[in-house]
Amino acid sequence: MQIKLEELPTPQVYFTMTQCVLPRPIAWLLTENDNEGYNLAPFSYFNAVCSDPPLVIVSIGKQDDGRDKDSIRNIRERHEFVIHIASCDQLAELNQSSATLPPGQSEVEASNLELIRVKGFRMPRLSDCKIAFFCERHDIQMIGSKKQQSLLFAEIKEIYIADDCAEINAQGRIKIHADRVQPLSRLGAGEYSTFGEVMFAKRPD
Ligand SMILES: Cc1cc2nc3c(=O)[nH]c(=O)nc-3n(C[C@H](O)[C@H](O)[C@H](O)COP(=O)(O)O)c2cc1C
Repeated sequence: MQIKLEELPTPQVYFTMTQCVLPRPIAWLLTENDNEGYNLAPFSYFNAVCSDPPLVIVSIGKQDDGRDKDSIRNIRERHEFVIHIASCDQLAELNQSSATLPPGQSEVEASNLELIRVKGFRMPRLSDCKIAFFCERHDIQMIGSKKQQSLLFAEIKEIYIADDCAEINAQGRIKIHADRVQPLSRLGAGEYSTFGEVMFAKRPD
């Protein structure tokens, strides 16, 4: 099968692309609402793109009615936010946090997730996530033609890694045990994948 994307309507392009870029990491994004409550939502148009400065990108579309999603509206108004890496056993909570609640209503309060305060950063993090990126807004660029997306460049200022998932190895480098993080990843539509086997390959000289 060979597919010409220009012949497909945009929703079909989305479904085709998201079933081919496999698996995708998920940014579980915590932002602050106007009323000091917290908004939480998952985004799988997400990846690391630069180390100096340390940047990840998240591409955030519009609501069906054309309004901005709460996450990007909050980030335009307040420049600090937290991106978490969810574990496979958090699928139900992560999926539930993608529900569209009225602006200002907190997905965190609607769940049984707990927040924990962090010294030196305005935002808390989800206490049960193994990895959390404490970020500041670096840039937002608008992409797309008819229905524009906000491409968020997030600068990571600090990273939390659960003690049982990280250690300093013999070379003095941080070693993260991905098999202990058990990151959840997204396939197409409502499909997700669990963490598989770790393979190792030495880089050629
Ligand atoms: C696993 C998963 C990944 C998602 N990825 C994206 C994404 O990359 N971009 C996007 O705009 N919406 C994505 N969504 C939909 C948003 O999570 C959803 O629109 C959410 O209601 C936005 O919340 P907010 O209005 O509180 O920001 C995803 C949903 C799920 C369940």
